[in-house]
Amino acid sequence: MIENLIIFNAHVVTPAGFSARCGKEMGRLSILDFATVEVTRGIITYVGASRGEERDGYYNRYWHFNARGRCLLPGFVDSHTHFVFDGDRAGEFNRRLRGENYLSIMQSGGGIAATVRATRKNSYYHLRARAESFLKQMSLMGVTTVEGKSGYGLDRDTELRQLKVMQSLQNEEQRRVDIVPTFLGAHAIPEEYAGRADAYIDFLIDDMLPYIAGHRLAEFCDVFCEEGVFSVEQSRRLLTAARKHGLGLKLHADEIVSLGGAELAAELHATSADHLLHVSDAGIRQMRDAGVVATLLPLTAFILKEPYARGRQMIDAGLAVALATDLNPGSAFSGSIPLTFALACLYMGMTVEEAITALTLNGAAALNRADKLGSIEVGKQGDFVLLNTDDYRQLTYYVGMNCVTTVIKRGVIHPGL
Ligand code: NIG
Ligand code: FE
Repeated sequence: MIENLIIFNAHVVTPAGFSARCGKEMGRLSILDFATVEVTRGIITYVGASRGEERDGYYNRYWHFNARGRCLLPGFVDSHTHFVFDGDRAGEFNRRLRGENYLSIMQSGGGIAATVRATRKNSYYHLRARAESFLKQMSLMGVTTVEGKSGYGLDRDTELRQLKVMQSLQNEEQRRVDIVPTFLGAHAIPEEYAGRADAYIDFLIDDMLPYIAGHRLAEFCDVFCEEGVFSVEQSRRLLTAARKHGLGLKLHADEIVSLGGAELAAELHATSADHLLHVSDAGIRQMRDAGVVATLLPLTAFILKEPYARGRQMIDAGLAVALATDLNPGSAFSGSIPLTFALACLYMGMTVEEAITALTLNGAAALNRADKLGSIEVGKQGDFVLLNTDDYRQLTYYVGMNCVTTVIKRGVIHPGL
């Protein structure tokens, strides 16, 4: 559904621009007091001082919404999640609480493989219902666009099932959240290919990519480039093939060890490199020079009890940083936007203003959508969050608490909490 909407008395807080904001530009927000925002057929057509038209009937064909001076921000863009899966790994979490670590659990047959077994067993409808319930929760926290990855099938049928769940949720006329699908067939080496990672990459290149690209089931291709998973060379081979099929490129890079994923992202001019807990200084410079967005996922560091990515240093070096939740059943079983804000500011040295840019315009840039999403400007999609306050700093001051009261998607008002 797409609507005409006029919002009055909004305290507009937004980054500005139609491409990623880099370095210190991330901290610059435009603020307008008691502003009017007009949305026509789902697209922003005016932002500025009240023009008084509300008094002479000009807006008869618009829904009217009074923001009463509270903060209106662009809808949040969560540009890295794995929200389509089945099963849970609460048992593993308990093992970690007793001292085991993520990689050793993975090597003993748990981890991603455990979620793959659960996801393969379950039907399309079951997966879809579960994914839909995650979307509702995300929407209540202000997310209006989410990226979702496959990668819990690692076989033809299940990978396609995950992608088709996302396609069908995206086709819902009344959707509150837009979905950008990513093919992450290279998330782990499936049991059937144990010890034959190269053969598995061949299968992804020869059998999966042509079908997925041909049926427009994914916009991006991603790979878990990590010690013991896929090497830099295997990642390069897969991503180079994906690009030939017109897919955008993403990497899980330097998450657990410093393998050179960031350098590969720069070499391939990937749209984003994500995680980067152990990125090298050279990797940071090369990503900046190649215009790769650094997508940081503080919930993962928090939940794995790993050191946080060097957000402050990356921004000071001039990189464009995006923030996302990484919602998944293993390393970040949370889609909490409020906690993401708080951790980024408390532990990665980001300012509130930078964190807002990272979850809006730069999140959009990490999905190649900075021209359409991520700021409140004429020509962008009418996606907004309304806070319960006129002070945007409360987004991080209230740790882990939700200050979003209303979400507006393409001009349609959806009540929040
Ligand atoms: O982004 N690193 C790889 N993938 C996920 C974890 C997936 C899982 O544990 O199920 C991540 O951290
Ligand atoms: Fe991830």
